[in-house]
Amino acid sequence: MKAELVKLSAEHPDPEVIRRAGSILKKGGLVAFPTETVYGLGADALDPAASRRIYAAKGRPSDNPLIVHIADINDLSYLVKDIPEKALALSKAFWPGPLTMIFEKSEIVPKETTGGLDSVAVRFPSNKIAQELILAGGRYIAAPSANRSGSPSPTTAEHVAEDLGDSIDMILDGGESDVGLESTIVDFTEEIPVVLRPGYISLSMLQQVLGEVRMDQGLISDDSSVHPKAPGMKYRHYAPRADLIVVEGEEEAVVSAIIRMAREAVKRGELPGIIATEETFSRYQEGLVQCIGSRQDEESIARHLYHVLRSFDDSKASVIYSEAFYTPRMGQAIMNRLLKAAGHKVIQAKEEEE
Ligand code: TXA
Ligand code: MG
Repeated sequence: MKAELVKLSAEHPDPEVIRRAGSILKKGGLVAFPTETVYGLGADALDPAASRRIYAAKGRPSDNPLIVHIADINDLSYLVKDIPEKALALSKAFWPGPLTMIFEKSEIVPKETTGGLDSVAVRFPSNKIAQELILAGGRYIAAPSANRSGSPSPTTAEHVAEDLGDSIDMILDGGESDVGLESTIVDFTEEIPVVLRPGYISLSMLQQVLGEVRMDQGLISDDSSVHPKAPGMKYRHYAPRADLIVVEGEEEAVVSAIIRMAREAVKRGELPGIIATEETFSRYQEGLVQCIGSRQDEESIARHLYHVLRSFDDSKASVIYSEAFYTPRMGQAIMNRLLKAAGHKVIQAKEEEE
């Protein structure tokens, strides 16, 4: 099967294409579509066979639950047992948008969709193509990121085609994702809401609405016996083919350390990859240098992170050195993903290297 790839206007998606894509979903098929965070791989969330097809296409472990996407706030009550007051307040503040909330599931949601759990994750995306597809496809669309399990989430339709072009029915191309990182996940099945995955909506933005919020201990603890509560956060999400090493420290020390290590790699006959920023890009004379965005604009770093990581797999780079970015608003979201891709290989650049 070769997926049909259709370009759509983000503001005025062709209703005929949406209708066709919706009918594929209603028949149990798989359609990839843009959202404001990353591209999703959609299937009818209430159809167990359709959910199983998602796991097969992605090569995803069957215990890793899917997020159910809606496009009308009134549809939430059908999926969940109870909507806590605080969750309602959060939905008013950030839906539609890059926020996922976890509730106790209703009977209607099959365990095939929730990875066997009694809870369900729900998101109302703001992307117009996504909204129209959800409504055309039966209103409850399961959609994990549209990558093969273990690859970075796709931020363009081309990424989706590379990973899944041969195993799904259709890809809707709505251009590059705005945010570039997956949604923030907040769990409401506990007394105090818990962040299970950091994202564009930061802890302080959540605190402003909710008051008390906790970070999942499994995300921040050094104790490896404390596991993240979101099953998907325990997998080493993406390992570039080359070794990825994150270099932390003062900006000058980081640049000097990367220049030195890149030079050593070149001497060994290797091609080093470097993840730099607009501010530091021109300092690197050797290696394959990719600019991820400006240190002054963390949204640009978020938007380009996965694209940059993917690009090294198409090159001969054997080792990648990445600057650590100090991104005060989304720092947790960006560094969490980068460190996971690096398998937590971190070097501290020392002042004396300057
Ligand atoms: O931005 C996004 O959320 C994107 C777009 C397509 O909407 N979707 C996405 O889905 O990132 P996925 O499947 O790649 O990540 C879903 C995460 C996984 O880590 C999964 O373990 C967690 O959400 N999750 C889903 N349901 C859960 C539940 N009931 N309890 C705990 N974690 C859950
Ligand atoms: Mg994913």
